[in-house]
Amino acid sequence: MLNPHLEHLKDYPFQRLRELLADTAPPPGMQPINLTLGEPQHPFPPFVSDVLNQHQEGYGKYPPLAGTDAYRNAIAEWLNRRYALPGGMIDPGRHIVPLNGTREGLYMIAQVAVPRVKDGRRPAVLIPNPFYHCYVGAAVAAGAEPVLVPTTAETGFLPDYTGLDEDLLRRTALIYLCSPANPQGAIADKAYLRRLIELCRNFDIVLLLDECYAEIYYDAPPPGGLEVCAELGGDMSNVLVFHSLSKRSNLPGLRSGFAAGDPDIAATFLRLRSYGGATQPLPVQAASAAVWRDEAHVETNRALYRAKFDVAIQKLSNRFGFRNPEGGFFLWLDVGDGVEATKTLWSEAGVRALPGEYLGRPSNGPAGGDGGNPGSPYIRLALVAELAQTSEALDRLSQVL
Ligand SMILES: Cc1ncc(COP(=O)(O)O)c(C=O)c1O
Repeated sequence: MLNPHLEHLKDYPFQRLRELLADTAPPPGMQPINLTLGEPQHPFPPFVSDVLNQHQEGYGKYPPLAGTDAYRNAIAEWLNRRYALPGGMIDPGRHIVPLNGTREGLYMIAQVAVPRVKDGRRPAVLIPNPFYHCYVGAAVAAGAEPVLVPTTAETGFLPDYTGLDEDLLRRTALIYLCSPANPQGAIADKAYLRRLIELCRNFDIVLLLDECYAEIYYDAPPPGGLEVCAELGGDMSNVLVFHSLSKRSNLPGLRSGFAAGDPDIAATFLRLRSYGGATQPLPVQAASAAVWRDEAHVETNRALYRAKFDVAIQKLSNRFGFRNPEGGFFLWLDVGDGVEATKTLWSEAGVRALPGEYLGRPSNGPAGGDGGNPGSPYIRLALVAELAQTSEALDRLSQVL
């Protein structure tokens, strides 16, 4: 009676973590510190509530699925500023798809970009391993084979898509890439992005660039897919980038993001969304436009994360294969056995971490790999708590691991 493919979706990391720690408790009297969820806890810009209030009458209307002109213009202006795109490259009416947060878009786009058959076979969707679980859910629900491509220290924590077998690439419909990467914080440079865009154009593949951590970086701003398209002459064929206010502006509860790029994909995506997509309420569109227009709060936010990474550098350098992530807000620590370390951290230090194993799967499919789960030796820590709490958590971790 039910879709049999969904049997493959039984490994959501937070459910597994709850089960792992169900019978364990932190030491009595010790204040627990939760570093599992990538849910920002810095303040969001205070003007958001005012703009929502000013547009209250919008709750009484069905909002336009494609967004108001003002909203799409604000997004286009932000893309132009952030990536120094040439004027006219982004047409707000043709290249932008507003989303209720990027997760629903990253999921639904697979319905747009995965045909029933590619190269006479079941289509493949390439996904970095470890991965954001939405990608696998999207591939499976679209009837494709999710093919996990290992991302390890040896590959610079990015998937080596251009090194894959041509036979696999011919049946690949869709590629997901997350840069800055969740969980490792690696950033794809322009040369990497250029090679990947060219690969996708050669093999007729849709490239989905999940750039939702693009505004949280330690040194240099990560390059973006559209920036590279601009350098390749301005053509955005095959490329769709995804951006969100959840991490940039500490607004995961506003549910606000967008996709931008290839006009044919954007138009087809909007067509599908007009049948089954969730529309952003008008007050949310107005508030989102104001937030995309403001950079001051983004700089403040980045500085708050940088201070925490400075503490991590000071406390963890030379341990656990420590690398200061280039972007994003996660630490990805090599602790030997991530599941065991997670149990120890919770029961002896009251620190809740996420085992890297739960973010990956064994890699032994058509993309190669040695059968191991590349996440197994690691834990992921989200540096979302306040500085003092983060510092305390890292001290406790250093003591017990
Ligand atoms: C890699 C990655 N992509 C996308 C998202 C979705 O974010 P949102 O739906 O809040 O825009 C998340 C959220 O944690 C994420 O970690």
